[in-house]
Amino acid sequence: MKKIIKLGLLGSGTVGTGVVRVLNENKEDIVQKIGADIEIKKILVRDVNKKREYLEGIELTDKPESILNDPDIDIVVEVMGGKQPALDYMLKAMESGKHVVTANKDVVAAHGKELFAMAEAHNTALMFEASVGGGIPIITPLKHCLTANKITEIMGILNGTTNYMLTKMTQDGCDYDSILKEAQAKGYAEANPAADVGGLDAARKAAILASIAFNTRVSLDDVSVEGITNIEPADIQYATQLGYSIKLLAIARDYGEKGINVRVHPVFLPKEHPLSNVNDVFNAIFIKGNAIGEAMFYGRGAGSLPTASAVMADIVEISRNLVNDTGNLVGCTCYKELKICPVEETEDCYYVRLRVNDESGVLGQIATAFGQCNISMKSVIQTRMVGNFAEIVAVTHITENKKIKAALNLLQALPVVDEISSVLRVENA
Ligand code: NAP
Ligand code: HSE
Repeated sequence: MKKIIKLGLLGSGTVGTGVVRVLNENKEDIVQKIGADIEIKKILVRDVNKKREYLEGIELTDKPESILNDPDIDIVVEVMGGKQPALDYMLKAMESGKHVVTANKDVVAAHGKELFAMAEAHNTALMFEASVGGGIPIITPLKHCLTANKITEIMGILNGTTNYMLTKMTQDGCDYDSILKEAQAKGYAEANPAADVGGLDAARKAAILASIAFNTRVSLDDVSVEGITNIEPADIQYATQLGYSIKLLAIARDYGEKGINVRVHPVFLPKEHPLSNVNDVFNAIFIKGNAIGEAMFYGRGAGSLPTASAVMADIVEISRNLVNDTGNLVGCTCYKELKICPVEETEDCYYVRLRVNDESGVLGQIATAFGQCNISMKSVIQTRMVGNFAEIVAVTHITENKKIKAALNLLQALPVVDEISSVLRVENA
């Protein structure tokens, strides 16, 4: 029986430091729960001379081999981020029989298949709870607690940075650039925040969740992505006026014969929807299953200690397994190959904000363009002037994405339309 579990950390930034802190603070209980002692033997960093808090007494190295080839290390914890060299290090670690825990959605979303193949070939564990939803338990619940369900839909707020920004823009009227800087300073944003605001970070997490929920490998290329960069204060004001909040949602739906569709985009969400009141850096995942009905998982989606909570949970799980010698953990669950339903075939209600000439007959021309594409209108309002133009907001009934695209082409070609300022989906209009 193992007496001491030894960890090698790759990275000691926001998450790595959190792992050290959680382990130090809760060590006594963690040791009891595992049934063996546990220690961090080494940490890989880029710069061993950088001054660091919380790491007294831990050996730092800038040589990855000194962790990957150390026969004493049982679990390699990858919290360095980026695709490479993180992917190579994880593969090498498993090749030499080490178990791997990672918080890295970039690598899991793009190279999940390869990583799982390596884990299976070498009978090692690969765990990635922190890669989606920060501190929220969601991978383990999907793989274990909800495994008896057929999952039909997942809707999630999966990016803390953008949720924080949208919340502050809505509640306090903050401007986009200053609130993004604040999210970066709080350690929520990625090294390059373009992945947060552009929706890519949420798309990677959506690909991971959809792969587990639908037992089908979904990669980033299968996810259609739109971020929050085009959201303007006017959209936020109209959303509030009409009884909605704007949220960046990841949506994975089973469209039956058409296949599964996975996408990330901002949505007008009714204020009564449970996800509508998920604010600040909080994330939430709303799941529909044919046995459980609806379930929601809520918590901090980013930040040092919440993310470390999920990383440590994986470490404890693997350690218990090592101590009790109970064989390996659940590996890849993608035993199906469901087809991907193209976004053009998905159906939603839409909000369209237009700048038009302020003259008679304009509303009629707009209604005709929608009508020619067989789109039924729920409401059309004109509330204000923007310079010499009138601003029109139209909300449609449910329609196919390809029809809305056709209608937008017709509208764009109308001489009375100066600009299509914004097009957003509306959930449950
Ligand atoms: P971070 O603060 O930038 O820290 C990265 C750490 O890795 C640093 O210690 C850095 O060394 C080290 N590192 C990076 N590249 C390296 C290389 N090539 N060789 C050696 N060391 C290297 O990143 P983080 O925010 O902790 O994020 C880590 C991972 O967790 C990412 O995959 C991220 O997506 C994921 N994640 C983060 C959060 C969050 O809230 N931040 C939440 C969930 C998941 P130096 O210190 O010497 O620069
Ligand atoms: N940048 C990410 C976010 C960190 O804002 O949610 C967690 O993955």
